[in-house]
Amino acid sequence: AKRTTDVLRAPVICVLGHVDTGKTKMLDTIRRTNVQDGEAGGITQQIGATQVPASAIKERCKMVKDFDPEGLKLPGFLIIDTPGHESFANLRSRGSSLCDLAILVVDIMHGLEPQTIESIKLLVKRRTPFVIALNKIDRLYGWESNPRKDVRQLIKSQANSPQLEFKERLQKTVAEFAEQGLNVALAWENPDPNEYISIVPTSAFLGDGIGNLMAHIAQYSQTTHAKKLAYCEELDCSVMEVKALPGLGTTIDVILVNGALHVGDIIILAGTDGPIMTPIRELLMPQPLKEMRVKNAYEHFPVIKGAQGVKVLAKNLEKALAGLPLFVAHREDEVDLLREQVQEQLNQALHSIKLTSEGVYVQASTLGSLEALLEFLRSQKIPYCGVNIGPVHKKDVLKASTMLEHNAEFATILAFDVKVERDAQLYADNEGVRIFQADIIYHLQDAFLKYREELKQ
Ligand code: GTP
Ligand code: MG
Ligand code: NA
Repeated sequence: AKRTTDVLRAPVICVLGHVDTGKTKMLDTIRRTNVQDGEAGGITQQIGATQVPASAIKERCKMVKDFDPEGLKLPGFLIIDTPGHESFANLRSRGSSLCDLAILVVDIMHGLEPQTIESIKLLVKRRTPFVIALNKIDRLYGWESNPRKDVRQLIKSQANSPQLEFKERLQKTVAEFAEQGLNVALAWENPDPNEYISIVPTSAFLGDGIGNLMAHIAQYSQTTHAKKLAYCEELDCSVMEVKALPGLGTTIDVILVNGALHVGDIIILAGTDGPIMTPIRELLMPQPLKEMRVKNAYEHFPVIKGAQGVKVLAKNLEKALAGLPLFVAHREDEVDLLREQVQEQLNQALHSIKLTSEGVYVQASTLGSLEALLEFLRSQKIPYCGVNIGPVHKKDVLKASTMLEHNAEFATILAFDVKVERDAQLYADNEGVRIFQADIIYHLQDAFLKYREELKQ
């Protein structure tokens, strides 16, 4: 396939970091949305995707010295939000495997934390270039915010005390990165971008430094990584999430990095029972600056070119698995080869969902959150014998009820972020199957352990 650096695609940028460092807030400020406020427990439990068009980048970078909006060659950014909570390592890994570069968010008041270090390891292992957002600078005592100012100037204009505190905390963070074997420096003091990772100080909350961060990423990606961003016809597409949506059935959210998807294309992807082959019925995208994981009005397209976050509608997606590539068969004779390829990747992935003969029944809204919940249950030594994605139906209760003969405490459904159908609840009440519902995964464990104690007494 032909590649020139004349036509660049949007870089896929993954936001990683410890819980509550301000990843989602940063995206909210960029998008001028309020996704973070609406999150259950204030934590992110799914991967998100947002397309930031070039016009929004230019607007945001107006105040940045040394940034020439005319020189922006990128059509935009595709930004992937990830959860920082411990249990969601699967989604951090998935996000970082998809991206061209990453923003590692560090809370200036806390420095490096466990999931910061976990994220660094992922990035280093995959050789993913990244930029550090040293966030929450507005929490420095006496800080005077001004998001319309270049952050370098803004720091200089602070009173003595916040300037000193900034320097101290910066130095401490630099030392902590050095302990991880990484050289880091403020973006405007970086002596060699190939050796030092740049730090941009930010306030995701008030907007300070966000323009500098975006300008830095734009420049860094279109100069140092232009080759990687040359648009190319060869398909590079991964399934990010599998979601059951009312009225639409089971849909998949994909990250289309390169190449194009067309309505009618025959896609081949992994499913729990083997490769799935199905024609694309519809291609949807949220509007620019809208978060893909939040319910929005979608726009329909006959063709979509990468890089974009795309919702694909097709039949037979109920058993689709997230985290693996999606292929398009253009010719009859490609089908068998692609199926084999998918099967192989599937065999590897299925190792992670190991069911036991006795255990609870687990249900979640997406495969990503299901995996996180299972990971969490494993760490708590709570066995599970069955799983499903989407609302709890009578047939799920039926499956869970088989445990009544073995071990009553396991005749339980842990339902994360899903509805329980009325007839399913009635049936469960009759049969003696308990259903616990929660929108924060940690609450399900609490509920189950409490119930277990009750049963013992
Ligand atoms: P997870 O997705 O759960 O890992 O968290 P996150 O990294 O997305 O952090 P989130 O955006 O949920 O922010 C966590 C809290 O920190 C919220 O209460 C935010 O309002 C606050 N916060 C985020 N950025 C800043 C900042 O720059 N300054 C201040 N003062 N607070 C911030
Ligand atoms: Mg978040
Ligand atoms: Na949070």
